[in-house]
Amino acid sequence: MVNVPSPSRRNHAMTVPEFVAAKTRAEPLVMVTAYDYSQARLVDEAGVDGVLVGDSLGMVVQGMPDVLGVTLEEVLYHTRCVARGLKHALLVADMPFLSYQVSLEQAVLNAGRLIKEGGAHAVKLEGGVRSREVIAALVRADIPVMGHIGLTPQSLRRLGGFRVQRAKDQLLQDAQAVAEAGAFAVVIECVPAEIASAITASIPIPTIGIGAGAGCDGQILVLHDLLGLYPDFRPRFVKSYAELGQQIRAAVRAYAEEVRQGLFPAPEHEFH
Ligand code: KIV
Repeated sequence: MVNVPSPSRRNHAMTVPEFVAAKTRAEPLVMVTAYDYSQARLVDEAGVDGVLVGDSLGMVVQGMPDVLGVTLEEVLYHTRCVARGLKHALLVADMPFLSYQVSLEQAVLNAGRLIKEGGAHAVKLEGGVRSREVIAALVRADIPVMGHIGLTPQSLRRLGGFRVQRAKDQLLQDAQAVAEAGAFAVVIECVPAEIASAITASIPIPTIGIGAGAGCDGQILVLHDLLGLYPDFRPRFVKSYAELGQQIRAAVRAYAEEVRQGLFPAPEHEFH
């Protein structure tokens, strides 16, 4: 059995075998997204087990309406920034739309770049049964893969919107296919809690839920949602543990007022 020290006591980056072993020890896995060095340092120091450079960066960092336009170069850039800020967490980089669907060869080369040039420990890609060949090809190339089933945001055009996915048999087959193809973990997004629990009980690899209830082996949230940076966007599955959007706005407003009133800089901020 792999020994899994708690994040605060771990003095090395979490390994893929340690991540997997957390399931057998029934230790909840904590993941969050991050997109730059400062965020990476903060979430790593907070003791998360895994950090995902998600293609959600298209929406929360770039301000786009969906994830479809995110490129491999962009994920690579953000992965490099995040890698520099992590000491303990497992770093997973998302494979963006069309970076793994065209051919197995292209998928291996692209995933390899996220590992070699980005410093990621693993990659994540979407799809269950439909992605089993590509998962197996990456694993054959020694690239650890995290699957992603349920609501897969890259399928937005086919699905017609962001909706809870309820097709139980299909979801169970997807999870099974991802595990059999050799993935070390799987994200389950926007799936009824009962189905996510059934999936968790049916596969040997950790399930990481987002909008999939408390029965998963771990949870992931988008950092901007967790911090309350966009209060106008709060889906049911999100819990904001801070309201940093309000705090940032108030801080910048206070700075602007002090500059306009001649109160900043004060003598203690000046060189003489
Ligand atoms: O891109 C992302 O941030 C994700 C998580 C929501 C799982 O895929």
